[in-house]
Amino acid sequence: MSVADFLAVPRRMLVGGQWVEARSGERIDSLDPATGKVLTSIPAGDGADIDRAVAAARAALDDPRWRDLTPLDRGRLLDRLADLVEEHADELALLESRDNGKPVATARAVDVGTTMKLFRYFAGWPSKFEGATIPVSPRGGLRVLNYTVHEPVGVVGAIVPWNFPMSMASWKLAPALAMGNTVVLKPAELTSLSTLRLAELIGEAGFPDGVVNVVTGLGATAGAALAAHTDVDKIAFTGSTAIGREIARAATGNMKNVSLELGGKSPHVVLPDADLAAVVDAAADAIFFNQGQVCTAGSRLYVHADVYDTVLDGLAERARSIRVGPGSDPATQMGPLVSARQFAAVGAYLDAGRAQGATVVAGGGPVTGLDAEYADGWFLQPTIFADADHSMRIVREEIFGPVLAVMRWTDTDELVRLANDTPYGLAAGIWTRDLATAHRLAARIKAGTVWINCYNYTDPASPFGGYKQSGWGREMGRAVLDAYTETKSVWVNVS
Ligand code: NAI
Ligand code: MG
Repeated sequence: MSVADFLAVPRRMLVGGQWVEARSGERIDSLDPATGKVLTSIPAGDGADIDRAVAAARAALDDPRWRDLTPLDRGRLLDRLADLVEEHADELALLESRDNGKPVATARAVDVGTTMKLFRYFAGWPSKFEGATIPVSPRGGLRVLNYTVHEPVGVVGAIVPWNFPMSMASWKLAPALAMGNTVVLKPAELTSLSTLRLAELIGEAGFPDGVVNVVTGLGATAGAALAAHTDVDKIAFTGSTAIGREIARAATGNMKNVSLELGGKSPHVVLPDADLAAVVDAAADAIFFNQGQVCTAGSRLYVHADVYDTVLDGLAERARSIRVGPGSDPATQMGPLVSARQFAAVGAYLDAGRAQGATVVAGGGPVTGLDAEYADGWFLQPTIFADADHSMRIVREEIFGPVLAVMRWTDTDELVRLANDTPYGLAAGIWTRDLATAHRLAARIKAGTVWINCYNYTDPASPFGGYKQSGWGREMGRAVLDAYTETKSVWVNVS
């Protein structure tokens, strides 16, 4: 389907295999961040729609067409879905770019690329996730065969953000489906379109009705209803730490399982012996990729005093050279922010940085001089603050925009203290040619992911998640399978 055709029709959402309006009949406009204009609209689902979707997911869990699939056949459905994502890659990338604002090349390489890899990788797990036989020591000489089996958790509620819309949805869908669960997915209200298109492909791949349901709508209504629903067995959330806290609270009603991927304020550290040209490229990418709207953004850069000026000059020049424009233009390197609200929130951090004494060395405000068509888009300049310190909001808080705070260090223990001086613990980066030093530093930084001489790589095979207030649990890899299964221990008297 062409993106123009998809956008020409007001979209519906997917409940129990039917494309439906919200019960209330209310709708939400989907906006183009490059122009501020309406692309199409989506249903404003609420608690009544969540109830319907949860009932459909519950019924699908016991449907023999899903429950009785062999592991290989479940894997084959996921593989078919990976094929369909690959076949529709250009269309999905363009749709993601239009709805979120990001450059279409980023959408193609990262969002669609990740989505495809996720379904491909998790397609292999249903036939390989084995239980165990356990050498137990029962009382009274009973002879026992004790074994474990992994069973689906049940109905999974997934609530995802707007920064990597379809890819974040797939981070939840792929392992949930691989382990035999059914899903009610609530995409972000700002960016639901690619997920609705993905849901069509899920049907085309042959997943039975009700296995995946997508309810679009606001967080405070649809999202909150899903988090609190007492017939949902697990909630998987990616988004802000503030909302993660509310979701954890809402989940206590029926003690549902909870996994949370939350915010970050990741330290990126440069030692004096690092390859400085590579550092400048990577440090710029770490903060400006996806307009800085990345949970692992390398937003605190600590540069050793000996190379501070060189790195800062290189970065400032680099930031000024980035081409900001509409995501649909192939020459664009950075697109608009996702929404007027995000644009205002990040703008307020620019004011706070200046007011608290940091120095702007590149950017610092809205982009001007774009074609008239884009005058109302949410374009912000790639911005670098020098002379930053830990008393400042731009250093302490997640900005979620293209804003870097650069700091100078000399003593390694002090560097480690500063790197860990944050309520977050999602990721970190280390640059040095001395790998022994790099490993020692990696061990001291409290973060779920540490990149050494690279930044912002993730893979379906490698666990991802946060220490401290960056979340609960791990996604991806072998580690995530536990989050989407219950383990049953079976004791058999064989005396
Ligand atoms: P958010 O955390 O409010 O939104 C994420 C998802 O949660 C969306 O689907 C939203 O509809 C849903 N949601 C919102 N309120 C809810 C509630 N009470 N119950 C259940 N679901 C709810 O993020 P928002 O407001 O769009 O962005 C604000 C800030 O959050 C950003 O500036 C950024 O700092 C942070 N953020 C962090 C992300 C991350 O991956 N670390 C992703 C998105 C936002
Ligand atoms: Mg949009």
